[in-house]
Amino acid sequence: MNRDVIIACDFASAADTLAFLDRFTGAKPYVKIGMELYYAEGPQIVRDIKARGHKIFLDLKLHDIPNTVEKAMRVLSRLDVDLVNLHAAGTRAMMEAALRGLTRPDGSRPLLIAVTQLTSTDAGQMHDELMIAGDMAQVVMHYAQNAKAAGLDGVVCSPLEAAKVHEACGHGFLTVTPGIRFAGADKGDQQRVTTPEMAKELGSDFIVVGRPITAAADPVEAYGRCVDAFV
Ligand code: C5P
Repeated sequence: MNRDVIIACDFASAADTLAFLDRFTGAKPYVKIGMELYYAEGPQIVRDIKARGHKIFLDLKLHDIPNTVEKAMRVLSRLDVDLVNLHAAGTRAMMEAALRGLTRPDGSRPLLIAVTQLTSTDAGQMHDELMIAGDMAQVVMHYAQNAKAAGLDGVVCSPLEAAKVHEACGHGFLTVTPGIRFAGADKGDQQRVTTPEMAKELGSDFIVVGRPITAAADPVEAYGRCVDAFV
């Protein structure tokens, strides 16, 4: 799998998103569509961005009973996205059902990756509220191995965990890593951040970059800097 930079298009409307993408007149960046944009605009925003020639990561993080997830994934498989995700916490049975739903009649399917533990969850919350024992790294690795055993293609994780995930699950198992900032930049609400150069060194397959590109004075230049450093 070739490394790539995915822009998190965390905009509230189709108009804002398409105006942003209009600035990219050359290369067509890989685009992440999250819950806010998808719930605001529905599947048409996916079709519109796809029609412009972008690859799409649809970040909807499904988590429900296996039958419901299988049916929802069947609907998403018709949208022709390139990458979708779910919560590994839904169990291996749910992940296997998701894969069945996602696989089209001709055998093709989008890549499917799992969220292990959200980066917004700290060890205290995981122990006290979720009642999951063990340290965070162990839990993340165990969930990654469940995802691998279910037949998924990879996980969302921190670049700082990418090497361990590859060690535990193999180098073909994808690590898709947010929490990227340019050296010396404001971290915003992200805690553990990594530069694009460092993410490459640590073995990430895809970096997901939002505000360092979307809030830059020149987003096309910022995207180019990410590509130069990472790809
Ligand atoms: O703006 P920023 O670069 O922080 O955006 C990162 C993107 O990655 C956001 O869309 C955020 O929701 C997403 N994300 C994350 N951490 C995760 C999973 C997804 O930051 N663990």
